[in-house]
Amino acid sequence: MDQDNICVVLHSIGDLRLENRPIPEPGPNEVLLQMHSVGICGSDVHYWQHGHIGDYKVTNPLILGHEGSGRVVRVGPGVEHLKPGDRVAIEPGVPRKVDDFFKMGRYNLSPSIYFCATPPDDGNLCRYYKHNANFCYKLPDNVTFEEGALIEPLSVGIHACRRGGVTLGSTVLICGAGPIGLVCMLVAKAMGASMVVITDLLESRLAIAKELGADFSLAVKKEDVPTNIAKSVESLLGSQPHVSIDCTGIESSIQTAIHATHSGGVVVLVGMASDTVSIPLVTVSVKELDIRGIFRYCNTWPMAIAMLASKKVNLKPLVTHRFPLEQAIKAFETTRQGLGIKIMLKCDKNDQNP
Ligand SMILES: *[C@@H]1O[C@H](CO)[C@@H](O)[C@H](O)[C@H]1NC(C)=O
Ligand SMILES: [Zn+2]
Repeated sequence: MDQDNICVVLHSIGDLRLENRPIPEPGPNEVLLQMHSVGICGSDVHYWQHGHIGDYKVTNPLILGHEGSGRVVRVGPGVEHLKPGDRVAIEPGVPRKVDDFFKMGRYNLSPSIYFCATPPDDGNLCRYYKHNANFCYKLPDNVTFEEGALIEPLSVGIHACRRGGVTLGSTVLICGAGPIGLVCMLVAKAMGASMVVITDLLESRLAIAKELGADFSLAVKKEDVPTNIAKSVESLLGSQPHVSIDCTGIESSIQTAIHATHSGGVVVLVGMASDTVSIPLVTVSVKELDIRGIFRYCNTWPMAIAMLASKKVNLKPLVTHRFPLEQAIKAFETTRQGLGIKIMLKCDKNDQNP
């Protein structure tokens, strides 16, 4: 066991520090984990650069990181399904109350949920971290720690495709080929979508999307007219898509999704860039479109592990950079510059493998 517990702590805008914190003691129904791999998310970078996301403000030092996996080192009282040595993936959102949302199976909507690296709740970008054992999922030997960490972004894709009703033979438009657009594409294909078209401003991202299995990619420009992009989508697919998933949050992109979608279809809003946007509401009405919001995810880890163990999805190509935990500031800087797709921090000094 390492004796230090380096954590990546955000103090205020732009002020990210490596700090040594006491190794936590697992309480009832908790496990202490030696962290192995933690992915850096756009939201971590956003907190670092802006000090807030919407109303969530960083007022006290906050440990970042919510895309993690690790190994159990100690179990607290009452933990039965895990033992020291088990490799686990961490679901960062842990409901605190058995409220209406919990009873509905939609615990992600509970206002009192604990969520890693969302103020005031600390994240898991540390050498050691304790977590509710029920939200730590054992990984089979043939699923790597990095795949375990990637279950967090994959979960966004699963939830978005479930909310969109993607099924066997669906045609799907995905706006945005960043990490979330890519996982939506991978999940849509795994759920049986017959054709997926993905759009982005950057050719480099579209090239990766094609490599990962997108049927069509469409390069768009900021000044392109949404109805024209919608027509291009239709000609690529031969018809309008049943489901459109916007992963950008940009007004023109949401408009494109609405214009592109087949009447009676679904538009899923995953990206959150601007608070208020204008949309062609009459189009929504006459096409009877369902516009569905997404807030994180729920009930996705067991399914994700099954998909990874059976090799139905391959997330490994998403990891383009790796840094040891000690170089976290450099890793954040690399993420901020938009280099690569997913950047992993390796938290275990003695095991920096995938
Ligand atoms: C991976 O491991 C699981 C659990 O041990 C097993 O059920 C599954 O068949 C394995 N998958 C492959 C592709 O070997
Ligand atoms: Zn994330």
